[in-house]
Order: sequence, then C-alpha cells, then structure tokens
Amino acid sequence: MSLAAGTPARSHDEDAIGIPPPCPTLVPAERYYSPRFAALEAERMWPKVWQLACTVDHVAEPGDYFEYRCGPYAVLIVRGDDGGLRAFQNACRHRGNALCAGSGQGLREIKCGYHGWTWDLAGTLKRVPGRKGFGVLRMPDFPLVPVRVEAWAGLVFVNLDPDAMPLADYLEGVPDDIAWCGLGDFRCYATLTVEVDANWKTIADGYSETYHVATLHPELLRCVDDVHAPQRIWGHTGKSDQPYGVPSPRLDGALSDEEVWDAYVYTQGALMGAAEGTPFPADERRPGQTVADLIAARTRSFAAGRGVDLGWADTDRITRLHQYNVFPNMTFLTNADHLTVMCSRPRRDAASDPDKGELVMFLMTRMAPGAPRTTPADVRVTAGTAEPGVVLTQDIRVLPGVQRGMRQPGFTHLVLSGEERRVINMHRNLERYLDLPESECMRCGTADETPPT
Ligand code: FES
Ligand SMILES: [Fe+2]
Repeated sequence: MSLAAGTPARSHDEDAIGIPPPCPTLVPAERYYSPRFAALEAERMWPKVWQLACTVDHVAEPGDYFEYRCGPYAVLIVRGDDGGLRAFQNACRHRGNALCAGSGQGLREIKCGYHGWTWDLAGTLKRVPGRKGFGVLRMPDFPLVPVRVEAWAGLVFVNLDPDAMPLADYLEGVPDDIAWCGLGDFRCYATLTVEVDANWKTIADGYSETYHVATLHPELLRCVDDVHAPQRIWGHTGKSDQPYGVPSPRLDGALSDEEVWDAYVYTQGALMGAAEGTPFPADERRPGQTVADLIAARTRSFAAGRGVDLGWADTDRITRLHQYNVFPNMTFLTNADHLTVMCSRPRRDAASDPDKGELVMFLMTRMAPGAPRTTPADVRVTAGTAEPGVVLTQDIRVLPGVQRGMRQPGFTHLVLSGEERRVINMHRNLERYLDLPESECMRCGTADETPPT
C-alpha cells in the first residue's frame, strides 16, 4: 500500500494531491460508530496520546485551575504556588469523587467536597478528617495521581501515560516548521465548544483535508487556492499550506480582483478588521499590488491597532494559511496574524456513545510580545445554535449527515484519496495505538471488492 508516511517537504507549487496512490484507501466505516471500537480507543489510545487540554491563559497565575475532560477521562490542571504547572487525575484518593469541575482562580488547596480529604497544589495529601478511623494511614501513600503536562506555544497538553515521550518529540517537525511565526505571542481570549452529533473522528476528518472546499465552501473557493495546497506528513503530525487572497484555479480566472476581495471580506474579513461589505480599496492600491498585497496591508494596520508590529511579515507570511494536524484530534491554522486551534473529542456527557462528539475552538489573537494574560471566556453551545462564521458553520452543519450515512448497512468503507492523506495518516496512527489485527486495518482497494470479514 502506498501511504504517504514521512513524505519530504514539498514546494509551494505542488498540488494537494501530490503523487497519486495506485488505488483508493479503504477505511472500515465501523470504526466511526461501533461502541466496541470506541471502547478500544478509550482503553488503548486516549490514555497514551498527548492531548490539547487548555491554554496557558487558562492557568496563568498560581491558584488557577482547569478541568480537562475527554470522554471518560478527567484531568485537573493546576498552576502551583511555585509557578509550576501540574496535572492530576481528577479523582479523590478516598472514594474517587471528582475534586474540581470547570475552571477558576484562587485555589489554595484541593479539598474533596465529599468527606474533606485535602491536598496542597503539588498533590501532597495534607488532611484526612477522622484519620484514626483508618488505622495506620500514611499520608505520603495517597498523593493525587499525577498526569504528564507540558506547554508549547501557549498551548497546554496532557498525557495520562507516565512513560509517554516528551511533547517536543511527539510534535516532530512542527515546532521548527512554524518557528518563524512566534506563536507564543498569541493569547487565547475565548474557547467555543460545539456539541455535535458525530464521532470525534468525523469532526477531525473535516479539518484534515481541503478536498471538500470546492463543494462545501463555494464562497471560500473564490479567495483560496485549494489546488496548490501542498501537504506534508511527519508521523503523528502533518501539514497543509493554502494561499489566500487568490481565487481557486478551478474558477479559471473568471473572477475580478474586486470579487476576490469581496469573498475574502465575506468569509474572513474579521481577520483584517474589515466589517461585512467593506469595499475593495481601489484608492489605496499601488501599481503592481495584488489582492493578497492589499489584504496583507490591511492586516498589518489592523495588527498595529493592537500594538502589534507586523513589519517583519511579507504578503506570503500574512496570507498563506499554514494548517498543522497533530494526532489524534488537534489542528491549528495560522499565519503571521492568525491562530485558530481546534480539537475534537468524545462527548463528556456521553462517553460511551460514539455518535456524539464535541468540537472545541480556541480563539487566539496576536498581542505585543510580553502582553499580559487574561482568563479566556469558555462557551459551550449545541451545533444547531453555533454560528462561528460562514465557513465553520458549513463545516459543522455537514457532520450529523456524514455520521448518519456512515451507519447505513451498505456503507462498509470510506474511500479516501491521496488528497485526504492527513485523514489516512490519522487512521494509520490509530491502528498502531489500537494494535488492530491486519483484517481490521485499512487497505488499498476498489469499491467493488468484497470487504474483509
Ligand atoms: S470521596 Fe473524597 S473525601 Fe471521600
Ligand atoms: Fe471546511
């Protein structure tokens, strides 16, 4: 099978398909809805992988805490009195009660609300009411169970596996590849969690390919080159580059510069501070300037209003979107003045229901270096009420139908293109973590083959 592991860096002109594979990749559909498969993920995958939990902005000061939940798992992240970031399984050592819920500030100690066992912020047991009733109970025997926690670029990741590789190794080539962008200067001002009637993988697949842009996002197609969008796969991670401020080559040059500008303003004008309907700035245009140059100039002055100097960033740095995928469930999309981070998870209130997931969006803004941090607003909505912009709304609205369709008895396999190789790569990693038998693995094939039993 010719799957694109470890493909080398590609030139900007290369297309999203790359070298076509000999045949489609068939992925068993069952893994998107089977409770047995979801249980296998909960047993073998989720406790082993690095997962984005929150941002440094959520836990910036001593006493700040954040409860991260993913399916059945709950992790408490705490900024200690010494400024250190720590994480613990969110379970009291007495009878298991969850110690904290949600997020907050000013935590001085961690006291269980059931019988009052109490730990300090470093996880050391300090008080046990009625201790003599336990006979000999040694306090050092019952610390909170630690969870690995590491931050990168203002993003806080946790891993339940004490023997997990360091986060920096897990991220492979990503940090070096995006080092030019200075992601640490972005601040998270809000998160939006959307409850979706779809498996977490159905959600993640939607942000792991650009194949759907031409059909699902007709407005976006008018201002993005979805064809010359080269992809790269490292191992756990992959990326795609997409030039914005230009029309898709699929439109055969039919659009005027004004129409490309209008489409950009309509789909993502907020990125340059442009309200809906902001007209093409013909009077600002200097000879030789492209639409992308004009977008870059607007973006620079929008950033300057926040005290951010984007003088270092040329048009390409501002208008080319760099999208990275990190196994199993996370992506971030960035350019010189933009960072949106997304992940998908099994739903916390329906951990054993593979048809339910949630999409979490971390909304970030670049600030001047060293800018103070403020606690983000965390908002949770259902898919029906979520309106996070025209393009993301299109992405979210399609998901329940995909989930429903995959459950139909005649739909045995997803049929994936080389253009969807970041989806294929997710499945490659998933199969490795789950240690699936060969008969259950994806394979190269055609639709009329009898699927393996
Ligand atoms: S369950 Fe926490 S003190 Fe009893
Ligand atoms: Fe999309």
